[in-house]
Amino acid sequence: MKISSMSKKLRKPAIVANWKMNKTISDALQFVDECRKMFKEISVDRVDVVLSPPYTAIKAVSDAIGNDNIAVAAQNLYWEEKGAFTGEVSASMLADSGCKFVIIGHSERRHQFGETDEGINKKIRSAIHGNLSPIFCVGETLQQREHDETFKVIRDQVEKGLDGLSEEAVSTLLIAYEPVWAIGTGKNATPEQAEEVHGFIRSILRETYGRSVSETVRILYGGSVTPENVSNLIKEHNIDGALVGGASLKADSFVKIVAGTFDILK
Ligand code: PGA
Repeated sequence: MKISSMSKKLRKPAIVANWKMNKTISDALQFVDECRKMFKEISVDRVDVVLSPPYTAIKAVSDAIGNDNIAVAAQNLYWEEKGAFTGEVSASMLADSGCKFVIIGHSERRHQFGETDEGINKKIRSAIHGNLSPIFCVGETLQQREHDETFKVIRDQVEKGLDGLSEEAVSTLLIAYEPVWAIGTGKNATPEQAEEVHGFIRSILRETYGRSVSETVRILYGGSVTPENVSNLIKEHNIDGALVGGASLKADSFVKIVAGTFDILK
């Protein structure tokens, strides 16, 4: 399957696998091997494909993908450059291991590890300073949605996470809208629900950084993305790709998700 015509999407779609705390080095290498074989048959140059292994497998994955059209992301980082911070890893260490991206502010980190908007802001700054593109996650809980607080929560997370960043810095990042109630539950947001929030996030970017930055930043959707629902989500104007957890663990389903974006690029 080759894509020869111009993309209908304004921004190049990105499909990011978030493996969370899964896969040993050998599991990860097996995944890369299977993926590469399948990607040989489908051209992936119109989509940015990103794998986010646990720290322990980053270097092995980045060596294995070589010059393929696949990039590596870390799932977290610490904002200091180096020093007495037992257990932490800095942006420059991640770049040194082959990362181009880093996921920041995932809801599992916010809710299970107490990450705050202020800490997330420091992490985004240090990632950009270290030449990594942050994949900055935001999203409301079910309770917040039911209390009609979605827009307030999203505005707060976006504004605090990006506080003090220049237009140039903001244009290097990706944002992932991941409603907490959709993560790992099998209950994805509908394309309309997601598009509404994505459009809102883009309008916040436009207010603060102007039209050109707001049109550049890719906004991914995350939360129970599967090969079956990905095309309908990505068809939406403001949905520029997906951050995929469970369905990214098997090469077969991940490759189908990447291929699912092709439907809308034809
Ligand atoms: P899920 O996870 O695809 O398993 O819902 C998404 C995420 O947490 O990034």
